[in-house]
Amino acid sequence: SREVGRLGTRELAQLLVDMRDTMQARDGAGLAAPQIGVPLRVVIFGLAENPRYPDAAPVPYTELVNPVLTPLTDEQEEGWEGCLSVPGLRGLVPRFTRLRYEGFDPAGKRIVRDVDGFHARVVQHECDHLDGILYPMRIRDLRQFGFTDVLFPEMAGVDGDE
Ligand code: NI
Repeated sequence: SREVGRLGTRELAQLLVDMRDTMQARDGAGLAAPQIGVPLRVVIFGLAENPRYPDAAPVPYTELVNPVLTPLTDEQEEGWEGCLSVPGLRGLVPRFTRLRYEGFDPAGKRIVRDVDGFHARVVQHECDHLDGILYPMRIRDLRQFGFTDVLFPEMAGVDGDE
């Protein structure tokens, strides 16, 4: 995906509206512009309380343009991920546990945050989309990859619409 050249445009604002609508309609924790067919480096994410991620701490809703990620540790941690682009599946994915992300909001205001845990995970997942990487490509043990209703029968029906 390409960098966004101009911030603060009506087109960019409209893209963010479309992305937010899509993410909310499908109860996702994040979305990248390429997932709705727009090859630009724009991601959104956020989590209040989400039945798809019952154990995750809240993440503030964030719109991030031209993101740059810098790991703040060598440490990685495995965690379960799903993706609106790979419906009905979950996999155990290694991610850096702490990182800094930098970029801009759609109006052009700079964003710099040091984050960890699920917040760090969701940013890595969404930014991977910008480079054409889907989470199954990062799974180390394919035995830890499968249909959500088989892996987590107690969640059957919760994310049938992902
Ligand atoms: Ni995804």
